Amino acid sequence: MKITFRPIAALMACTVLSFAAVGQGNGPIRQVGKVSDVNISGQTVNLTTDNNNHIQVSVYSPTVVHVRMDKQPLAEDFSYAVVGKPKQAKADIKQSNEEVTITTDSLVTRISKNPFAVAFYTKDGKVINRDEQGLTTSWIGEEVTTYKEMQEGERFIGLGEKTGGLDRRGSGYTNWNTDAYGYGTGQDPLYTTIPFYVGIHHGLNYGIFFDNSYQSDFNFGASNDRFSSFGAQGGEMDYYFIYHTKLADIITSYTDLTGRMDLPPLWSLGYQQNRYSYYPDTEVYRIAQTLREKKIPADGITLDIHYMDAYKLFTWDKSRFANPAEMNKKLEEMGFKTTVIVDPGIKVEEGYGAYERGKKDDIFLKYIDGENYTGQVWPGWTHFPDYTSNDGREWWKKEIKFFAETGVDGFWNDMNEIATWGQKMPNNILFDYDGHLTTHKEGRNVYGMQMARASYEGARQHQPNQRPFLLSRAGFSGSQRYTAIWTGDNRSEDSHMMLGIRLLNSMGVSGVAFSAMDIGGFTGNPSIGLYARWIQLGAFTPYFRNHTGVNSKSSEPWAYGEEVTEIARNFISLRYKLMPYIYSNFYLASQTGQPLMRTLAIDYTHDPKVYNGEFDTQYQFGKSFLIMPFESGKNYGKVYFPQGKWYNLYTGQVEQGANEKIIPIEYSKLPIYVKESSIIPMQSLVQHTSEKPTDTLTVHIYKGDVNNSFVYYEDDGASYDYQKGDYYKRTISYDARRKTITFDKVEGNYSSNFKNIKVMLHGFDKAKVKTNGKKQDLQQDFASFIDPISRFDPQGTSNPKIGYEVQSFVIKNDKDKITLSY
Ligand code: NOJ
Repeated sequence: MKITFRPIAALMACTVLSFAAVGQGNGPIRQVGKVSDVNISGQTVNLTTDNNNHIQVSVYSPTVVHVRMDKQPLAEDFSYAVVGKPKQAKADIKQSNEEVTITTDSLVTRISKNPFAVAFYTKDGKVINRDEQGLTTSWIGEEVTTYKEMQEGERFIGLGEKTGGLDRRGSGYTNWNTDAYGYGTGQDPLYTTIPFYVGIHHGLNYGIFFDNSYQSDFNFGASNDRFSSFGAQGGEMDYYFIYHTKLADIITSYTDLTGRMDLPPLWSLGYQQNRYSYYPDTEVYRIAQTLREKKIPADGITLDIHYMDAYKLFTWDKSRFANPAEMNKKLEEMGFKTTVIVDPGIKVEEGYGAYERGKKDDIFLKYIDGENYTGQVWPGWTHFPDYTSNDGREWWKKEIKFFAETGVDGFWNDMNEIATWGQKMPNNILFDYDGHLTTHKEGRNVYGMQMARASYEGARQHQPNQRPFLLSRAGFSGSQRYTAIWTGDNRSEDSHMMLGIRLLNSMGVSGVAFSAMDIGGFTGNPSIGLYARWIQLGAFTPYFRNHTGVNSKSSEPWAYGEEVTEIARNFISLRYKLMPYIYSNFYLASQTGQPLMRTLAIDYTHDPKVYNGEFDTQYQFGKSFLIMPFESGKNYGKVYFPQGKWYNLYTGQVEQGANEKIIPIEYSKLPIYVKESSIIPMQSLVQHTSEKPTDTLTVHIYKGDVNNSFVYYEDDGASYDYQKGDYYKRTISYDARRKTITFDKVEGNYSSNFKNIKVMLHGFDKAKVKTNGKKQDLQQDFASFIDPISRFDPQGTSNPKIGYEVQSFVIKNDKDKITLSY
């Protein structure tokens, strides 16, 4: 039956439709239908329906169930995102006339037969998530959507780089990687696609990863109060359902599936100075030199598109950079690493090497008639390598060698959505999709990820024992295996600073632990107050990148006057002192997928306050620091302390949790609190990460009533030798009931940079400490994390230090277990 919608006929047509569509599959909406055949094999259930749809439900692991559906027999399960392998799991599968049930150690999956619908339950029978019984899964043409029953009070978080509040309930989103120059704070979509979200209700939480790279749409009760849904414009309905009692474990399972970041090079965790663009080389030296002279620690300088000759990839503008290898060497001697921008567009120009080689190797994206696609970007008309083909990636990997030869350490993959001056790209462009030939419609969202992959693999190939740093603007689920992601061209506005925090927190929930935003804003010029606040916050973001656009004012830490320079120095220095804590947290991310920036929803999932718009930018940096971001110019702000006790970083004063409070906000001090029972390793100040700190590691311990543990991790920070056992790792545990702090025996062969450990005790009133059973002498000490700024005391005479009295003691950094009791 063919129905043309004309306004007058519409009502009548609807009546006919409601009959035609339900169950029969021959109306404009093809429903999944009634199960007609079931085949159970091992952990997998294959089903067909009377509407001729093909379904597979399989146990991926005890906590993960994989659901696939198509209008035709299911094809090979090809995925750019998923790298995990199904695990053998105990799955008890039973069938009756009405349903098939699959029971694992962790959950019960019930498949109803009429119509086909999936429901997930806890072992004690609570609904975690289930298909909306009337709507289940359906197709409109090639578009496929699964509808889930909206649970009472259900909240939704995640979906990666998405604007809006922490709780996405009531909103809808589209995934279509987009060059979003100067985007609005509510704009959607942006640059990166991560079709993974977490649903939260009735003390339960689950994750859904929709593994489909077509344009996808998510509806979390936008303009409807019946369902949440996810669907795509083509391809299979293919999703993974993840259930854990703790939200953090859902992130771990999701990153089991889609992979985790490698340990980054230590230098990439230091401060990175960017602008569009620093040139010529003398300007680069000036910036590097000034950072050193002003004692603003830094590790990276980034070169934007002007280093190239007429924006041609794999060239240097020799009038600006006569000898790039020498420049990079000199920078290296000063403690700086160089990151260069790489764009995918290769200029169409006879005689230009990369163009000629690309043509010869035939690796550019094409139309159906074999002609290369030509689009416009920086260099003018360009072709684009097909990174979704092995040949395309191999070609790029060879080209990237160009940089290895000049001592470049980082690759910043830009414009890879693909950006063609913000114009639509034609859909009739073919993508190899690794042997599964497809069009722009399916290829676009993975293009940026595959570009980053090619850059990463190229860098690894050319310098096998050196960790590369990769940054990308566009991405897809799984990009975290290759690259950090930053949020593109934000604006120098307060609302963007706050949005940036939410974006990074959301990426953290969605598997991207290494993320960044342009500190200070890309378009426009921040006010002095905004810049000061943003740079303080930047110290507590995973990749600390100060960047600004070509037409904006200088944005180096000294560009906003002496006072802001001091504020910037204070917080950048604090980041360097925190490097042992930060690096250990990156180790954790590489092992478990746990992000550095933790929205409070991760650890306080069922506390409604953390979703309140007043507090939803608050986050934890690692598990110890509670960061309270505020717009500039505020003198007071309302904060929420979640359950527990929280120490003011600057005064040591304790705040009781599960409490709202109005706090004064000082322009020069980002409000930061430390969670009780925290264990925070710190080092002496260095100006860059290749400078050795003193031989004493200071471990700050905050008295508390809850147990805690921290995995301390160290290695050379640069090579892959840690994979051969050259690391130093020990778990430090705080046992509140036994009143002990235990440094476990050291694992690994690396000898620590630190001969001594200084333990600083916070909140332990006149503690009687024993080390391995022997009384420990304590000394009076002073805990100070930042310096006062000189405005208040230009002569530096009466200026009291910021901090408070504590007790401390020093012990040898023995490899054996050390037990402290108090
Ligand atoms: C767009 C990027 O988002 C921006 O960071 C960069 O500076 C410009 N391209 C120029 O390369």
